[in-house]
Amino acid sequence: MAVEVEIPSVGLSSITVSEKHGENSPYFAGWKAYDEDPYDAVKNPSGVIQMGLAENQVSFDLLEEYLDQHPEASGWGSGLSSFRENALFQDYHGLKVFRKAMASFMEQIRGGRAKFDPDRIVLTAGATAANELLTFVLADPGEALLVPTPYYPGFDRDLRWRTGVKIIPVHCNSSNNFQITLEALQKAYNEANAMNIKVRGLLITNPSNPLGMAIQRSVLEEILDFVTRKNIHLISDEIYSGSVFFPSDFTSIAEILEARNYENSERVHIVYSLSKDLGLPGFRVGTIYSYNDKVVTTARRMSSFTLVSSQTQHLLASMLSDVEFTKKYIETNRERLRKRHATIIEGLKIAGIECLKGNAGLFCWMNLSPLLENPTREGEVTLWNSILHEVKLNISPGSSCHCSEAGWFRVCFANMSEQTLDVALKRIQNFMEQRKIKRSHSYL
Ligand SMILES: Cc1ncc(COP(=O)(O)O)c(C=O)c1O
Repeated sequence: MAVEVEIPSVGLSSITVSEKHGENSPYFAGWKAYDEDPYDAVKNPSGVIQMGLAENQVSFDLLEEYLDQHPEASGWGSGLSSFRENALFQDYHGLKVFRKAMASFMEQIRGGRAKFDPDRIVLTAGATAANELLTFVLADPGEALLVPTPYYPGFDRDLRWRTGVKIIPVHCNSSNNFQITLEALQKAYNEANAMNIKVRGLLITNPSNPLGMAIQRSVLEEILDFVTRKNIHLISDEIYSGSVFFPSDFTSIAEILEARNYENSERVHIVYSLSKDLGLPGFRVGTIYSYNDKVVTTARRMSSFTLVSSQTQHLLASMLSDVEFTKKYIETNRERLRKRHATIIEGLKIAGIECLKGNAGLFCWMNLSPLLENPTREGEVTLWNSILHEVKLNISPGSSCHCSEAGWFRVCFANMSEQTLDVALKRIQNFMEQRKIKRSHSYL
């Protein structure tokens, strides 16, 4: 009789099998639930509505109109040379014409109040790659970045998984509308010191995801002073800068540096991408803008792993160099987001739900803490589960964003049609009505 030898399964690297990818979170579980039963007004009207995805679909018609009117942007013209040049192009500096267009778009988004030098732009495949790449450049495995909470759940993967760098949360809370304070920064810094972990930098998101709020200028000034005192880096992820409802509400760290004559600017690095402002996450176009020459050189070299296709650069160079188009796009997109935001805030108010007073973003930060049976993370996840499976809405619980207070949820409003948003709001209103009836019965 043949002896069966048990062959051990072939192994993978410890990085691959570690849990640092952060995907074991309701944030990603909710996406899966949506994928298995997606809402469709005709084919699946009782399906899950995806409100957990910060995607901007409100201005696609403008992009499509541009492409219709400018077939040369997505074509190669009559000569073959342009096609061949682009097909062969693989220089990690990227197309000069595209970096120039990107720099001018980044200025325009900031109302012309900041200047960007195309030679300081490093192209990456989205902000995901930009954040990871910067982490590789600024910190060694075992060292840390401070990140204010609540934060974008993807940071757990982007900053930690492959780099081996740790995140030390800077806990912010509702007592001051989740604003970053010097006390919270110092506390997190001290905690890292107590654990013998070297802090290399602070990463802020401005405007914030998930709060949907731009950081006030005075707070940014304090943050810049803090990182200077501690001699650490500052990464400012400004991926939502074009989604601020009123441009005057947004201050980029670039404006503050300019006002300070670029003093201490070598510690500052801006991350930007076209995923949110142009609604093009599928195009994978991101940038690192660093004021530090060494970071620019190293990041550019390392961007070899995560380049943007020259075909994409070619198309967007045309689109973003057309200032008339970008001006109209930026204004209209802002106006539409503002309107959507007002619709969702009003609809939630009718349901008896309050949100943080936001001024930016593709989402609002909704307070369901009065509904919690247990004011804990577990209580929050229980409520999230019933909203996902009974109300059929996928929203993101604050705990997946490392929020220190239970009961807050991020709700996206720009990745669907107005009709779908209306259906979602009706579902929430019904849910709240039923809860009220249930509660009044339990008092009888
Ligand atoms: C704050 C923040 N940074 C980075 C990203 C990743 O963006 P990208 O699609 O450009 O990789 C997101 C996406 O949601 C985000 O919210």
